[in-house]
Amino acid sequence: MSPQIILVVGASRGIGRELVKQLSVHPNKHIIASVRQPAMQPVDSPASNVSSIILDQANPESVIAAASQIPELDTLVINGAFAERDQLLTCPSEKFDTYLDVNVKGPLQVVRAFLPALLARQTRQIVLTSSSCGSMQEQSEYDHGSLGPYSVAKAAGNMMMIQLHHELRDQSFTCAAFHPGWVATDMGGPGGMPVEESVAGYVKALEGLRPDDSPKFVAWNGSTVPW
Ligand SMILES: NC(=O)c1ccc[n+]([C@@H]2O[C@H](COP(=O)([O-])OP(=O)(O)OC[C@H]3O[C@@H](n4cnc5c(N)ncnc54)[C@H](OP(=O)(O)O)[C@@H]3O)[C@@H](O)[C@H]2O)c1
Repeated sequence: MSPQIILVVGASRGIGRELVKQLSVHPNKHIIASVRQPAMQPVDSPASNVSSIILDQANPESVIAAASQIPELDTLVINGAFAERDQLLTCPSEKFDTYLDVNVKGPLQVVRAFLPALLARQTRQIVLTSSSCGSMQEQSEYDHGSLGPYSVAKAAGNMMMIQLHHELRDQSFTCAAFHPGWVATDMGGPGGMPVEESVAGYVKALEGLRPDDSPKFVAWNGSTVPW
């Protein structure tokens, strides 16, 4: 049986890097880890079932160049994101563009570019690393503070996954969003859970992903997050 080919976009650090590490334990999977800088290799001693490509999800040319190197893909995980502490009323317009370019337009560009590779296989899974910050219901009940632009972008990413589900349903795609919880990465900062714990839940969710799960927003602990 040919190995399941999984592309993790944004794998240089944090959750993406750990995802590559934990997924590559399975010899029947081939993991392609995308990084923006060649020096940022995803694993210290690359396993034989890990390869890497250069991809900046905010740069359409970079995305197209990366996609041209991958003819077949089972599972596309879009994990890279831009997040800082900002408020909607004071975030400079150009910086707000960056939130949308990296977190919304970039992931859509990635999906479009890798669609032929996904269509070349039957698995056809698209997963976005999202956040409960993008949940309309959770945000209306809880204020994370100074994450307005990021939350808007993550909510747009969630809606993108729902709409992609509708647009790709006839071609048997599974589209899902994943909330990793609060994780002690560069983005999450100190106080969050260890990245190994969050990613163990992510790997379990990926392995359990079924067509009926489309469109679903699932968390690291297996719970369903309200859109
Ligand atoms: N940490 C948390 O508590 C938390 C909570 C909820 C959701 N999340 C989500 O989890 C995902 C991973 O976050 P993290 O905590 O692992 O953050 P992180 O440690 O700061 O890592 C961010 C990753 O995104 C990549 N990236 C940034 N801009 C990119 C671009 N234009 N193209 C491709 N890759 C890009 C970075 O690559 P470079 O090294 O090249 O910058 C890096 O690999 C994000 O989608 C984030 O929104 C995190």
